[in-house]
Amino acid sequence: MAYETILLERRGPVAILRFNRPDKLNAMNSKMKDEIISALDDLEADDAIRVAVLTGAGDKAFVAGADINEFKDRSSIEQWDLYQEPFLYGAVDRFKKPVIAMINGYCLGGGCELALACDMRIASERAQIGQPEINIGIIPGGGGTQRLPRVVPLGKAMELILTGDRISAAEAHRIGLLDEVTAHDQLEARTMEIANRIADKSPVAVRLAKQAVKASTRMGLDAGLRYEQSLFALVFATHDKEEGVRAFLEKRPPRWTGT
Ligand code: COA
Repeated sequence: MAYETILLERRGPVAILRFNRPDKLNAMNSKMKDEIISALDDLEADDAIRVAVLTGAGDKAFVAGADINEFKDRSSIEQWDLYQEPFLYGAVDRFKKPVIAMINGYCLGGGCELALACDMRIASERAQIGQPEINIGIIPGGGGTQRLPRVVPLGKAMELILTGDRISAAEAHRIGLLDEVTAHDQLEARTMEIANRIADKSPVAVRLAKQAVKASTRMGLDAGLRYEQSLFALVFATHDKEEGVRAFLEKRPPRWTGT
């Protein structure tokens, strides 16, 4: 399928989805949001793809936010209707395969919220991160007020959201908002290294492990531990569990089938 606002590349088991409005710092308009959701649907259905990487085209930005031009004439009720499914940030959050944010520059507003909905955040040392909505008299609406404080300390989330200030990649890494920071020219190689490490594992085990870890952000400890136990029991029904254990005991590499 041809897209106007994104580029989709399949590199073996890893798909790289690039936000592609570099002259607008990859600000997300409605078309781009729809195309991202559609591409994620395709990637979820494609068994050859094991991991998705989200990044920005060009050298300056991951995503500099939602396209502010679209806010100008939007009414309250129109905004409310946009929250009906499919909703971009929910689609990223619910994506069944691992999804890595490869943050190559400005990561602001909806860009930061998109990265927060991903499973990991790896950034160039040039990245700048922030939730600047307050500067234009609005608040984060793509999950920022809820996901950011689950990733960084509450006071830091408050500071970012209430001041609207941008922070450097180094500072974002220090507070836990970024998992890793690389030299700018190493970003893609490092991200692909991690993506391919994951892609080498049993896809069914990866899926269940991701589901269990994500549940930890939503469940209390006792319920979360029970949930983990049920998924652990479930994984014992898979061919890949049989194969992985047998391969270890036979001292050979496993051959995963994803079943
Ligand atoms: N929505 C719409 N357009 C945007 C945008 C956004 N969120 N972010 C950047 N752009 C556009 C600019 O309007 C400009 O377009 P133009 O060339 O047609 O005038 C182009 O992208 C380049 O941006 P510019 O501001 O000239 O680059 P800069 O290097 O001087 O500044 C930023 C970079 C990121 C600091 C600045 O663009 C900015 O503050 N963007 C808005 C960030 C934001 O508030 N995001 C949250 C929205 S809720």
